[in-house]
Amino acid sequence: MVLTFFELNKITDDVLENWLKKLPKFRQDEVLKYRFRDDRVRSLCAYLLLCVGLGRIVEKFSYNEHGKPSLVDEQLYINLSHAKSAVVAGFSETAIGVDVEFIRKIYPKIVCKRVFTPLEIEQIENAKDPTGTFFKFWTLKESFVKCIGQGLSFPLKTVEFRLTKEKIDCSDNRFQFSTFTQNGHQIGICATDQHIVKNLSFEEFSKLVTTVSQGGACTAPTSTNH
Ligand SMILES: CC(C)(COP(=O)(O)OP(=O)(O)OC[C@H]1O[C@@H](n2cnc3c(N)ncnc32)[C@H](O)[C@@H]1OP(=O)(O)O)[C@@H](O)C(=O)NCCC(=O)NCCS
Repeated sequence: MVLTFFELNKITDDVLENWLKKLPKFRQDEVLKYRFRDDRVRSLCAYLLLCVGLGRIVEKFSYNEHGKPSLVDEQLYINLSHAKSAVVAGFSETAIGVDVEFIRKIYPKIVCKRVFTPLEIEQIENAKDPTGTFFKFWTLKESFVKCIGQGLSFPLKTVEFRLTKEKIDCSDNRFQFSTFTQNGHQIGICATDQHIVKNLSFEEFSKLVTTVSQGGACTAPTSTNH
């Protein structure tokens, strides 16, 4: 399952202060180490989305050598991503990676050679919508890197994607991929199976945060298949 929440603009200072108190000390410290309010809100809400999905407040993480967090007390794979006004949390019995990016008006051509193979660059440049296509490739590749947990240590051009209208092919055939656009953001998912995506409104998310912080388990509503 993948949970999304796109209404970070509804987090007022009161909500921020109140929700921050619900976090364990280590995550409070992580949130507060950000200088800018928007980064604090993203870090806070990504963590609470994880907690809402699990139906409990997560007390701590363990980390691999590249900084990928995982649960210490449950055999479940998780992954988080945040950008602009969106947060995403992935949950799976096998490895999962998620990535969300805000779709900018113009894509940063300059990074293409560092990140993409010649075939990927060709697909981006020849697409009807090069910017949209760039963000599809970016979120797919980033979700892959996050799924395997290697972060920036992974040589990005050693994995290659080919996109057609019907399907997403990847040179690494262990995984299944999806990418979709919602609320001006692109979301990429890499996992061994297809996942249901559930989006939460601010009202739903707030209710679930209250339930989970009071020790009650919760199930998130409304789902779409991607
Ligand atoms: C750290 C990295 C894993 C993701 O960074 P990012 O895109 O800036 O951030 P996202 O919001 O998608 O993900 C951040 C979350 O991923 C998780 N994470 C951190 N290290 C991770 C790793 N090695 N593997 C998987 N997940 C990781 C954390 O939960 C983190 O959130 P938190 O710090 O709030 O807990 C890494 O891939 C990176 O720095 N990428 C930079 C961008 C780039 O060059 N991408 C090229 C891909 S085409």
